[in-house]
Formats: sequence, structure tokens, C-alpha cells
Amino acid sequence: MSLPAHLKSRHLPLGDQRTGRFYGQDILSVSQFTRDDLEYIFGVADAMRNMVAHIGTFDLLKGKILANLFYEPSTRTSSSFLAAMERLGGSVIPISEVRYSSVSKGESLPDTVRTLECYADVIVLRHPETGAAAIAAQAARKPVINAGDGIGEHPTQALLDLYTIRQELGRIDGLTVTMLGDLKYGRTVHSLSKLLSLYDVNVHYVSPDLLKMPADLVAQLNEHGLRQTEHATLEGVLPESDVLYVTRIQKERFADLNEYEGVKGAYVITPETMRSAKPRMALMHPLPRVGEISGEVDHDPRAAYFRQMECGLYVRMAVLAMVLGKA
Ligand code: NCD
Repeated sequence: MSLPAHLKSRHLPLGDQRTGRFYGQDILSVSQFTRDDLEYIFGVADAMRNMVAHIGTFDLLKGKILANLFYEPSTRTSSSFLAAMERLGGSVIPISEVRYSSVSKGESLPDTVRTLECYADVIVLRHPETGAAAIAAQAARKPVINAGDGIGEHPTQALLDLYTIRQELGRIDGLTVTMLGDLKYGRTVHSLSKLLSLYDVNVHYVSPDLLKMPADLVAQLNEHGLRQTEHATLEGVLPESDVLYVTRIQKERFADLNEYEGVKGAYVITPETMRSAKPRMALMHPLPRVGEISGEVDHDPRAAYFRQMECGLYVRMAVLAMVLGKA
């Protein structure tokens, strides 16, 4: 039987003096974070940003190896974890073409993970099934970081999203955050809304009826005291939003592609839309966008999605340093 995730650090070499928050821990869900943890992570991310700006690459994780195991497509998440590890002086085993690995021979996820941890110190996993990261973490002695498990969670994305909100607007408490698009299948909004429930915020959900936030998640967040309202159109809530978090309709999650055809292109943010937004709003998107934000909006100072992407590097550097006991 494998150990509970929080006991993993006891299996690190005897005499290992490293300690610290999240040392040896899995990062599976944002539910494991307190506000205090988030402030700590953001402080480390700030330090990483500073170090990258001043010296670029440094040796904090020299000799450490990350296995980057991606069973689903990724540009930003995989490359930012890779860049994060290399900026910290470590190295990476990239497995993004699982069809060329033993997975294509039918190897199970637990066996693949047990293999990789023989060679690596930490495993980053993206997988199409909800709960896959937890299954991998059960099998592994080394820390597993969930980089997206189906429609479940994407904890490091939510960390970088919140870090971006804090950077763009200087605070989190007191804000009104509107999430738009595919709230049913979008794992980033599932994780972000959970993190926001730790703060004093108002959240508006805007989606087609078919793609509403899962009712059980809304109920759970309600119990945590998060103020949430649901809408079919953006117009009514846009003028009061401090953050507009736009998402892609997750085509690959639809069982019936006719349903996708019915909702694709439901919302498109244009310069015209931005005219009704607050002068200091942060327009965010986890990316990739497939038409939800018109390219003409990119030069609007409120368009924060490229800065948001950059934040991903610093937050992932912080997370890696923490789970490896170096922050
Ligand atoms: C998101 C994801 O994979 O959930 N992408 C990302 O990690 N930045 C969002 C998406 O694919 O729509």
C-alpha cells in the first residue's frame, strides 16, 4: 500500500535537512492551499521574477531532474515547467509524445510513473482523466504535480491566475471576477473559483446553458461562502467586473460534436466589448484562444493574458523549488 501523499517527505534520504512548506508534497488540487500558503508561494514567485530579471538562470535546483509527462496537448504548461526547471539549473525528461513511449504498448499510468521516478525527482503530469494525478501520486514516492486532469483541476494554472490578478490589480479581496465561456469542462475555472473562495470576492459565471459551472461545485463553493451568480450574457455584469476571465470552449471534451457546433463562438470579446468594461479591468485567458478574444484587443492595456503567461514561469519555478525543499 502506498503512503498518504503528505507522508512522502519521510521517504526522502536520511539526514536530508531540507524542510519547508510543500517539501516532498504532491500538488494535486488547489483545495490543499490556505491563504497563508498562497501568500508564501506568491512571495517566492516574486523572488523568482527578480532573480530571472537580474541573473536569468541560477543553480537552486542543480542536479535535480523533472519528468514532464503529458498525455494531452500543451504549449504553455509543458514549456513553462521545462523553462522553470532549466532556469533553476535542473534538467528535464520531456515525454509529451506518449504515443512514442511505452504508453502506446499499453503500459498503465502507475507503471509509467514508477518508471519515471527512478530517474527523476519530481513528476509533472497532464492527463485526460479526472483523478489521474491522484492515481499517479498514490503510485509514486516522489512528488507529483497535476498539470491538468481532464475536466478536474489545473492547480498551477489557478496559482498563476491568482498571482496575475494580484499583480494587475494589487489585491484580491473586494474584487468582482467574471468567468466566461466553457465553465462545465474548463478545469482552469474549476480550480480558480475554488481558490477565490478563500477571499472576499464576488464571482459571476457567464456561459451558455449547456456549459454552466457544475452544480456540485457551485454548491460546495456556496458552503465556503463564495458569492456566485450565473448569467447567460455578459452585458449586465461586465461594467462591474474587475477581472474578466475568458475561456475556450473545450471541443475535445464534447461527446456530441453537434453540441459543440451549437455553442462555439458563443462569446467574442472585441474592442467594442471593452468599451463597457472598467478602465482598470484585467482581461485574462489561460490560452490557447480560438476566437474568444479578437486580436484587435491585444493592444488594450487591460489585455493581461500575455503577462499572465509570463507569470506562469515564476509561479512554476516557485512550486518546483518548494516541492524539492529549496524554498
Ligand atoms: C488550459 C488547459 O489545458 O486546461 N490551458 C493551459 O494550461 N494554459 C486551458 C485550455 O486548454 O483551454
